[in-house]
Amino acid sequence: MAPQRHLLMGILWILGGVLFAEAPDPAFGKFHIADPESAKRGQVALTSRAFTPASFTTDSLATVWRIWTKTKPLDPIGAARDRFGLHEAPYPNGDLPMGLRKGTIALGIQGLALDCMVCHGGSILGKSMVGLGNSSLDLQSLFEELPGAGARRFPTPFHFSRTRGTNEAVATSVYLLALRNPDLSFQITKSDPKLVDTLCGNVPAWWLMKKKATLYATGEGDARDSRGIMQFSLHPLNQRSFFEKEESTFKDILHYLYSIEAPKYPFPVDQSLAGRGEGIFRSHCAKCHGTYGSNPTYPNKIVPLEDVATDPQRLKAYPMDFAQKFSQSWFSKGHEGWFADGYQGRVNHGYQAPPLDGIWATAPYLHNGSVPTLAHLLDSKTRPSRFTRSYRTAESDYDKEKIGWVIRPIDSSVRPANTHEARKIYDTKELGRSNRGHDYGDTLNEEERKALLEYLKTL
Ligand code: HEC
Ligand code: HEC
Repeated sequence: MAPQRHLLMGILWILGGVLFAEAPDPAFGKFHIADPESAKRGQVALTSRAFTPASFTTDSLATVWRIWTKTKPLDPIGAARDRFGLHEAPYPNGDLPMGLRKGTIALGIQGLALDCMVCHGGSILGKSMVGLGNSSLDLQSLFEELPGAGARRFPTPFHFSRTRGTNEAVATSVYLLALRNPDLSFQITKSDPKLVDTLCGNVPAWWLMKKKATLYATGEGDARDSRGIMQFSLHPLNQRSFFEKEESTFKDILHYLYSIEAPKYPFPVDQSLAGRGEGIFRSHCAKCHGTYGSNPTYPNKIVPLEDVATDPQRLKAYPMDFAQKFSQSWFSKGHEGWFADGYQGRVNHGYQAPPLDGIWATAPYLHNGSVPTLAHLLDSKTRPSRFTRSYRTAESDYDKEKIGWVIRPIDSSVRPANTHEARKIYDTKELGRSNRGHDYGDTLNEEERKALLEYLKTL
């Protein structure tokens, strides 16, 4: 690189934190290698501890059915799991589903706490997995119904989810950080958080972390930074001392996330068809998504919105006041990564093209979960505009032809009377939920798309 270009890049870097297509940061293109001891400790911490105090009473899961039915279900906990979209835990967790665990409310009173896996523990072909996004979750019903344990419904301060399978995790961080000073002590007068709860976050798989330099849909975060992900344990009862005490635990958790492997497609694959698909992938997709197989590469590209043209809401409506506050906060003063160098958060202008490892298992697709299968993704004019699905994950709920979830189109005249049912309909006409853009497969013919789909199964 010419020295002038270095200088120019340096200046722009300091001015705006603009991400370049070929970023000068050495972290790009290198995969994170998990330290095995640290990863093991992280796994134990993540699957045995809650990092926020308990929010619900111990019996709430077993009694919450009273809010939606008069007859006691044969299996009350199973019925609650189905209602909220929770999955059996693949690790010892008593009779509790993944995402809930025993914890302390306050003053030694026991209750149920949520943990990371309520959103980051999913299920595919009936098998639960830590690190697969939970695309069945109805977080809104969970927060309205569990606190009352079936006796009454509670309003939430903003939407935790507007459509089932997606959630407003960003709004939660915005809301909770508004209660803090930069050093995480409590702010006496709450600042206006300028919260947006229409981002429809589709939870990314944790096994992609090892390849990423930047995190989140727009690449605003640093994948080496364990403090940054501690924002997910913001809770009014967690004080600054909690974050300091648990910093090393989150470093271990980060290493565990790096160590998770994508699941393999378990059904037969037509190898010669997939071989043809690989050629098409290399010519049409690899420049953004990287290459797979023995010497994988990943370019970590943030593709400008004008190019990818998917729903703009996550990028445009993301509260910049929050980004600024986050950049000034304790979370951004980690020991590693950009922040350690006084870096002020990345302002990007598009969406990150994610790695596609295990893509067969991570439907629905795009940052807002608007596309239910890979076949729909590869042919934009076939994408359904209003649809529902079972929100279960058995083999019969999985579409092996199209690769993704079995869906049922829903006519625009259908308007369910209650919000729990309404959230089961994904309506791409709603704010933040458009299924437009990413039309890179449209120029291919049927044969080519079939071959490409076969190849995608092998990643
Ligand atoms: C309420 C649901 C929810 C909970 C609980 C949650 N997350 Fe997330 N997480 C998300 C969503 C949604 C995203 C994607 C946000 C985006 O890009 O807009 C995400 C993104 C991430 C990412 C970045 C992944 C990537 O590849 O970009 C990490 C790391 C992460 N979460 C870690 C955690 C940890 C650790 C916990 C527990 C302490 C946690 N999360 C709890 C919903 C959640
Ligand atoms: C110019 C860059 C670019 C090209 C070329 C491209 N993609 Fe993408 N792809 C992206 C971006 C950016 C996203 C994320 C968009 C979003 O979520 O809004 C994405 C998302 C995806 C997703 C969804 C990932 C997920 O987890 O939700 C799949 C699958 C995918 N691309 C496959 C392909 C295939 C197959 C091709 C080749 C036909 C291709 N892409 C070509 C940039 C690209």
